[in-house]
Amino acid sequence: MTDTAGKYDRFSGFYDSFEALIERRAFSKYRKRALSLAKGKVLEIGVGTGKNLPYYPEDVEVTGIDFSRGMLEKAERRRELGLKNVKLMLMDAQNLEFGDNTFDTVVSTFVFCTVPDPVKGLEEAYRVLKPGGRAIFLEHMKSKSKLLNVPLYLMDPVMRALTGTSMVRETQKNIEKAGFKIERVENLFFDIVRLIIATKPSGD
Ligand SMILES: C[S@@+](CC[C@H](N)C(=O)[O-])C[C@H]1O[C@@H](n2cnc3c(N)ncnc32)[C@H](O)[C@@H]1O
Repeated sequence: MTDTAGKYDRFSGFYDSFEALIERRAFSKYRKRALSLAKGKVLEIGVGTGKNLPYYPEDVEVTGIDFSRGMLEKAERRRELGLKNVKLMLMDAQNLEFGDNTFDTVVSTFVFCTVPDPVKGLEEAYRVLKPGGRAIFLEHMKSKSKLLNVPLYLMDPVMRALTGTSMVRETQKNIEKAGFKIERVENLFFDIVRLIIATKPSGD
């Protein structure tokens, strides 16, 4: 088990209550918008406690992976509440156990701030996405504004210690480094929380 997975195992009992306020005020709206774009066979990377599961369209087939057993157990409870078309698996995003070109949609929400080697994880996401498929990233990251980055740098050591999360990752650049073609970026909270829609070009 990696250090980060262990941190999430320990945090899994508090995770939903820790985020309850921000979830109600903001994240739930962002999730609704992001997940409405999912189609077909979906891979959700870092499914966590399964907060996205209620927001998927009814006709999709979701495989959710996470490397924290504790987080997955919480997600399993949510799944049992009636979401039939969801499969949950213990797996590392940096080493996905799926063949190339398997999924129509890849989803991650607030995950690539934490994946220990984010570009490797994103390259794996790219590999398993079908050519012409869509990736939906709802992620927080470093801002372009030096001023907005001040609180992020202050929070960074605390979040790293607590959950292994970096507040100042350059996730949009990492998405491009992994080969994705960015179609559209929506800044949801300044440019710190962004919805990034990207594709794997057909023929790749
Ligand atoms: C901040 S939580 C977000 C959970 C969920 N996506 C959400 O929106 O509530 C980050 C999740 O990513 C998972 N994660 C981080 N790195 C991972 C990796 N390399 N492989 C699989 N899961 C990973 C963590 O275990 C954790 O559940």
